[in-house]
Amino acid sequence: MDETGTRADDDTGRALAEIAAATTPDAVEALRVALLGKAGSVTLRLKALGALPGDQRKAAGEAINRSRDAIGAALAERRRALDDAALDLRLAQETVDVTLPGRDGHRGGVHPVSRTMERMAGIFGRMGYAVADGPEIEDDWHNFEALNFPPHHPARAMHDTFYMRPDGSGVPRLLRTHTSGVQVRYMMDAVVDGSGPPLRMIALGKVYRSDSDQTHTPMFHQCEGLLVDEHASFAELKGTLVAFVRAFFERDFEMRFRPSYFPFTEPSAEVDIAWHQADGSVRWLEVLGCGMVHPSVLRNVGIDPARYSGFAFGMGVERLAMLRHGVDDLRSFFDNDVRFLRQFA
Ligand code: DAH
Repeated sequence: MDETGTRADDDTGRALAEIAAATTPDAVEALRVALLGKAGSVTLRLKALGALPGDQRKAAGEAINRSRDAIGAALAERRRALDDAALDLRLAQETVDVTLPGRDGHRGGVHPVSRTMERMAGIFGRMGYAVADGPEIEDDWHNFEALNFPPHHPARAMHDTFYMRPDGSGVPRLLRTHTSGVQVRYMMDAVVDGSGPPLRMIALGKVYRSDSDQTHTPMFHQCEGLLVDEHASFAELKGTLVAFVRAFFERDFEMRFRPSYFPFTEPSAEVDIAWHQADGSVRWLEVLGCGMVHPSVLRNVGIDPARYSGFAFGMGVERLAMLRHGVDDLRSFFDNDVRFLRQFA
């Protein structure tokens, strides 16, 4: 081997040793630039070939090419080895223990009012009641007239609400003051499609009144119930409500049916439960209103009161939730204080 070839082989041996000693991808890259880059030593040597005497050029060229190929292969090999080692290290360090419990995120909870409505729907569902729905923006006919509240009936005074003409149509609407209008809708639909009576349904949802104090909010929720059949009786109404109260509170109460008045039921009653106080005394707490559906209401929806009778009841969802959970201010359900709400989640 001539002079140039020997030098190339020596240089190659040194370069290969340096490549083998490189410990980072950056160091390998720096060597690549220094050896094979535009101004790298191997590149410069190739460029210098032209200056050699013709008889030496061929052998020197072959030696430099061999050197370039060996260095190129060594660089690639070293780079792969370092990448593999880096990957092995990451795999070793970044182990994932799939058996660990998940990180605790912010778990939401069902609002106590919704939870109470679900509870009511569950209890009545097991007694065969369907859950019906109706609009919160209601018309006068469903909210009042069909329920036997004529236009100037004094009972309307207890149901003050917002009145509006939403679409400029001239048809007045109102924010429903109770869920009893759903009774009217449900009975009319059943008559039209022939699915009833007999029928039984509950309706759950928001209602609105001009009221605000510790036990009243301008928006609250009601649970309405209706059963219409050939022989619906007050005894069955009582039995249904006693069963409901027992299931809802998970305990037995002494209950009292107190005569009352609603335009759409006759007779009407308010139901009280005997609440035992911590000091041993007993307070009667009103939990709901009920009665036998007024014959005029049945007639208004196209049901023959000579053949069918019905009973209905209505209760405040927040009121029952307050009693069940010992909450003393109804407004706390709507303050959105998570410290309060979390207790029910
Ligand atoms: N709608 C009544 C109210 O909001 C509650 C009520 C009473 C509903 C008696 C009924 C019922 O269905 O039979 O005060």
